[in-house]
Amino acid sequence: MSSHTGSPDVPDENLPGERAHGGEAARAENPFADPGLPPHEPRVQDIDDRAAKRSERTVALLFTVSILATIGFIASYVIFPIDQYVFIWPLGEISALNFSLGMTLGIALFCIGAGAVHWARTLMSDHELIGERHPIEADEETRTQVLADFAQGAKESQLGRRKLIRNTMFGALAVVPLSGVVLLRDLGPLPEDKLRHTAWEKGKLLVNQNTDEPLRPEDITVGSLVMAKPQGLEEGTHEFMAEIAKAAVMLVRLEPKDIKDKQELDWSHEGIVAYSRICTHVGCPVTLYEQQTHHVLCPCHQSTFDLADGARVIFGPAGHPLPQLRISVNEDGYLEAQGDFAEPVGPSFWERG
Ligand code: FES
Repeated sequence: MSSHTGSPDVPDENLPGERAHGGEAARAENPFADPGLPPHEPRVQDIDDRAAKRSERTVALLFTVSILATIGFIASYVIFPIDQYVFIWPLGEISALNFSLGMTLGIALFCIGAGAVHWARTLMSDHELIGERHPIEADEETRTQVLADFAQGAKESQLGRRKLIRNTMFGALAVVPLSGVVLLRDLGPLPEDKLRHTAWEKGKLLVNQNTDEPLRPEDITVGSLVMAKPQGLEEGTHEFMAEIAKAAVMLVRLEPKDIKDKQELDWSHEGIVAYSRICTHVGCPVTLYEQQTHHVLCPCHQSTFDLADGARVIFGPAGHPLPQLRISVNEDGYLEAQGDFAEPVGPSFWERG
């Protein structure tokens, strides 16, 4: 058994200096022993005054550059107008003010950090210290004392004897969390089935979202993508944002012969199909339409849907096709919905499977 002359946790043979004398033998005996610290090597600054002076000057230089950079920061703020642009390779045209503020502040902070690190590494005390670990378990005497104090406290509180107090106290502790449950009411009314329904219903006209005009089939030309909203949904109203986030649709005219999905064909009018614009990945508006392939692309994460095949996902992270809105034409010649979407719109609706 080894005697401990330094730390009680570090065997003597592993203390600095011991490794050179007999450390090899100890390692052969116990290859997993704490390797301890290597022998202390003095730095050049510890033994050469001129090297120490050089380090001192380097640190002082870094701090001085930091001071100058801060002065430059203040000067830039005063000198450069906010609308002045300069060409800086490779960044190109850039605001002179932003560039100079960023550059000078960056230099000022970097030089403070670099100076401090260089100072610590070359000039500050370089002695290795052993941080000793102590057992955290209390000694026997303390534990006995704590248990005695606890028993004494329980006795003095008369919990065992005063059963009425004890029972009502437990009752009060059990009931008090109910006040937190009541506060859940402040989260607002339950959504009930609002997430499953949109503003679309049978007979609602499809209105051009840009012009606010009801749409006729002839307004939907081949190759165009028209964004539509339900009739009666006025921009700027309180409900508009909440409703359009679910009810936004896009209309595209396809050649009926190109439509592969039978239900899609039945729900279309003369090749005009209406689909939800809310991406089934995380809800971005799907906006980019490619006429040749009939694909629409979500710009957020590139989910791509095939509008000629039930808006099936052909690429990207979306998990479901875009829901289709069944449409027809009313007796006045306007496009109208035949009801709400048949399924919830938007982001996978909590993995509806
Ligand atoms: S939200 Fe459309 S791909 Fe992510």
